[in-house]
Amino acid sequence: MPKLRTLVLVAGAALLTRRALRRRVQASPLWPLPALDPPISGRPRSQALRLLVASRETVAEGVVQLRLEGRGLPRWEPGAHLDLVLPSGLVRQYSLCGDPEDTSSYTVATRLVEDGRGGSREVHEQVTEGMELVVRGPRNRFPLVEAPSYVFVAGGIGITPLLPMLRALPEHAEWRLLYAGRDRASMPFLEEVEKLGGGGRVTVVEGRPDLDALEVSEGAAVYACGPEGLMAAVAARFPDVRLERFAPRTSSEGNAEFEVELRRSGRTLTVAADSTVLAAVRRELPVTAYSCGQGFCGTCQQRVLEGEIDHRDELLTDEERGDSMLICVSRARSDRLVLDM
Ligand code: FES
Repeated sequence: MPKLRTLVLVAGAALLTRRALRRRVQASPLWPLPALDPPISGRPRSQALRLLVASRETVAEGVVQLRLEGRGLPRWEPGAHLDLVLPSGLVRQYSLCGDPEDTSSYTVATRLVEDGRGGSREVHEQVTEGMELVVRGPRNRFPLVEAPSYVFVAGGIGITPLLPMLRALPEHAEWRLLYAGRDRASMPFLEEVEKLGGGGRVTVVEGRPDLDALEVSEGAAVYACGPEGLMAAVAARFPDVRLERFAPRTSSEGNAEFEVELRRSGRTLTVAADSTVLAAVRRELPVTAYSCGQGFCGTCQQRVLEGEIDHRDELLTDEERGDSMLICVSRARSDRLVLDM
């Protein structure tokens, strides 16, 4: 009996702590963090929110799902993602895979990548229920367009941005999904996806998919998300494919050296073929803001006054590309760029 009383007391204390945390988050759901969103080019990219990790659940082998609670959260459209600011300060992007109409929580899922860049390991090993995380977004660079039919290709965790699209399509919509993964146990949301597919819309492949067997009718919108190799193969077969990337394209092949003038600082720098504008700028101006270093978060965005930009990010809109660049990844097509800094 004393044992039972102790258990009840411990469970009660945990519940109270969690409720207290939730009340704290709900009291200040929107918490602007200007330092994370410097108004570069006068266009702050998104607001930062501090959310409670309300649940953490393993949804497939090596995949955890986080539900992040807040209040009055911005709605989002299928394909949108969040920036998560991890406890170490790393910023990583994760597709939203919950209900876009839910204004009290966001859901994301992440696969542990053993030899990755550290973000997924941090989520898996350090993010626990009851802790608070800062997020930014949601943002959508992978929107669901109107089309007569759809073909989706997902590789493993790449199903996450596609799942809300499948849920959002009307019942009569014509769509096919090719969902590939190592094996069924490692493929998140498989059961739901198969249920959504009903009569034969979903093809599940354990191992490498045969893209040549994929039929795409005239005018169909093709979407793909997954490992870089899969997306490259889909892009080679369907040049108009819409891709969602969460890892940078790393090859520096074909890169050339160029000059960057920092007009307001009165300095001129050389960017080597195997380096970045950001690295060169930070050697001169060490306080230059950046975060992800991969062209995803927008922190390093700078206005360009002269020169032709070689945009290599996955974030800026066409309008923004007219006069600004993300200096962590983008380069120059001309011999020289002039930045407003
Ligand atoms: Fe994140 Fe450049 S630092 S886009």
